[in-house]
Amino acid sequence: MDKLVINGGKSLFGSIEINGAKNAAVAILPAAIMASKNTCSIDNIPNIEDVHCLERILTSLGCKLKINKNSVEIDSTCIDNLNANTEDVRKMRASYYLIGALLGRFKKARVELPGGCPIGVRPIDQHIKGFEALGAQVEIKHGSVVISADRLIGTNIFFDVVSVGATINVMLAASLAEGVTTLENVAKEPHIVDVANFLNSMGASIKGAGTDIIRITGVKELKGCSYSVIPDQIEAGTYMIAAAACGGEVVLQNIIPKHLESISAKLIEMGAEIKEDGDSITIKSSGKLKGVNIKTQPYPGFPTDVQQPMSALLTVSSGRSIINESIWESRFKHVDELKKMGANIKVEGRTAIIDGVKNLSGAVVKATDLRAGAAMVIAGLIAEGATEVLSIEHIDRGYPNIEDKFKALGADIKRVSYSK
Ligand code: EPU
Repeated sequence: MDKLVINGGKSLFGSIEINGAKNAAVAILPAAIMASKNTCSIDNIPNIEDVHCLERILTSLGCKLKINKNSVEIDSTCIDNLNANTEDVRKMRASYYLIGALLGRFKKARVELPGGCPIGVRPIDQHIKGFEALGAQVEIKHGSVVISADRLIGTNIFFDVVSVGATINVMLAASLAEGVTTLENVAKEPHIVDVANFLNSMGASIKGAGTDIIRITGVKELKGCSYSVIPDQIEAGTYMIAAAACGGEVVLQNIIPKHLESISAKLIEMGAEIKEDGDSITIKSSGKLKGVNIKTQPYPGFPTDVQQPMSALLTVSSGRSIINESIWESRFKHVDELKKMGANIKVEGRTAIIDGVKNLSGAVVKATDLRAGAAMVIAGLIAEGATEVLSIEHIDRGYPNIEDKFKALGADIKRVSYSK
């Protein structure tokens, strides 16, 4: 078992590369199984546990994978198993994309219900509503989604809630449906556009991704292609916040500044300096920033996945900050951990009220989920003295080489193996 040991209080200086986007990669890998001809070569894949998990799942379906550090070649012409029922399927969220992908290509599948971070109730009713509208029969049996269709026929679907997962999943299935499918009230996150671009490179016909309405004209088959995943908006946002919190000057490379606008705007409001230059962004901060109010929202609003890292910064920002978490009902599990370090936070339902303190003090804390883990690392980097972050398997699910990247910026952080 590993933990991160951090001696806080160092300013951050230097330059690091941001990896490919986790939430795009974990949808693009399942989408690749829709190719009935040729192989998919996918580049800029982040080296994280969620990706490794999906690579094992794809292999269990019969795909042949050639895996390199940041790329993978997938031959899905030889799939011979439509029953995704391994431990890996159960433990991650994005395994639900296998439902849309297998349904689209084979018109049937059995996929165990997904796991993922414990951040609130995570229903998939909108995914199911979309599949049924396309003509599929869906049953939940013994913990699995059992789905089949004689034919998938394009139709109009208006989602009741804006959902990243449902938008992508139904887009996958509709790509191989007969006729035109119109999806309304869809999510607009950068990874929605990336998955649509990937499917179009495979021969799909998808228009409007990134707006409220997506129009998909079904095609008969999809084939392999070469593709590079977009940079990770959330990883970049996390490092921006760390730089703002610790003070110093940090350059992030391989990013798309437009995807970071809501985060940049908040950091500027707090007193940090941000400079965009092509595919890099520089964050300069004195480390003494002022508190702000935040409401998490679907893109282009402030991302829920950056709320937890941001709250670590707000614990030492002057005055009162109020966070309203509008996407997930239990995304404040990191608050009790931050309190162990001296933070002054009160949670009332979906609202956290943070009164800035002078500094945090190092403590033994745990990563209760992926982004909570990032928040605890940032808290440890700010704090006076030593912090140990436990349960870092959550962090490894989404942040490649987190300790190496912070070390390259001058932080005193190391990974230590220990037994319970
Ligand atoms: N929702 C429904 N019914 C559905 C689907 C969603 O009511 O059928 C609700 C959810 O309960 C939630 C809201 O809609 O309140 C948004 O959920 P969404 O479906 O957008 O979330 P998701 O697809 O399960 C993805 C990311 C999350 C990220 C959210 C929101 C992946 C694998 N996960 O989850 O990322 O928080 O979108 O942007 O893409 C993370 O990376 O740490 C993470 C949790």
